[in-house]
Amino acid sequence: MSVTVTAPAKVNLSLSVGPLRPDGYHDIATVFHALSLHDTVTVSESDEPGISIDMRVLGVVPVDQDNLAMRAVQALAHYVNRPGNVHVNIIKRIPIAAGLAGGSADAAGALVACNELWHTGLSMSELTDIAATLGSDVAFALRGGTMVGTGRGERLAPVLAATSSPLHWVIAASGTGLSTPEVYRTLDDIREQSGIDADEPEVSLDMMLALRSGVVDDIAAALANDLQQAALRLRPSLARTLQAGIESGAVGAIVSGSGPSCVFLARDADHSVDLAVELSASGTCDTILRATGPAAGVQLA
Ligand code: C5P
Repeated sequence: MSVTVTAPAKVNLSLSVGPLRPDGYHDIATVFHALSLHDTVTVSESDEPGISIDMRVLGVVPVDQDNLAMRAVQALAHYVNRPGNVHVNIIKRIPIAAGLAGGSADAAGALVACNELWHTGLSMSELTDIAATLGSDVAFALRGGTMVGTGRGERLAPVLAATSSPLHWVIAASGTGLSTPEVYRTLDDIREQSGIDADEPEVSLDMMLALRSGVVDDIAAALANDLQQAALRLRPSLARTLQAGIESGAVGAIVSGSGPSCVFLARDADHSVDLAVELSASGTCDTILRATGPAAGVQLA
């Protein structure tokens, strides 16, 4: 018995970060956008006690308690009060520690796959609650589409978005990741050093209107990420990557989440191919990927 699902990467079309909370998190207001770039997660019943994980992957991911997919299986097993004797196989396409929520996608995938494997009958809302305990982006990976996230990012609300044509993205990924907590900490430092008090986070009206119209230029103009300056301080070379994308004709350019991936908005599919070729030739990034959005959340394969 085994179940296979796909689980999407995400970009934040806008990410507004509030002050540091007493619990070490920041309240955010973000627009999550799921991408066609995805990992594939298969769970199978195992005769061995406990959870084992295999990853077909180019980077290094901890295959222990720190692995978010493993924690997802444990959390669901605990919730439905059964042993979590499963083997998890993950085919990773989403770059690791890239600001694309690949680890969260795997956790969301493992949750849905085990839910099917064990016939638990839990609702999407119960799964979303479990997902929210695992990480700030896991609930969104379950749901997909384009959604506003508030709280730590785990409270989700749908966005009224034009669906006539998909958005075409080019992703410039780096072989070396950035640590999300470090990027948040760096933003706090930058604010403290410049005497700036963080405002309450909000999604701009420009972004909401742009999504409703679906006009690519308007969406590009409304792209915003408070974490970008922190990612640039930690990885100054990203400025060259962003600049190369703009010079190559990207309609919009932004660091994705906590980085270091940079994402570029193209006019259409053909333009995204041209953009990917030019960016690749610029030599400013390690890997170029193309994706469309919005994509579905976790899906049975
Ligand atoms: O929730 P997740 O495990 O993905 O968060 C990783 C780290 O990123 C947190 O421990 C925290 O340092 C930082 N973070 C934050 N505010 C958020 C989300 C994440 O400060 N809203």
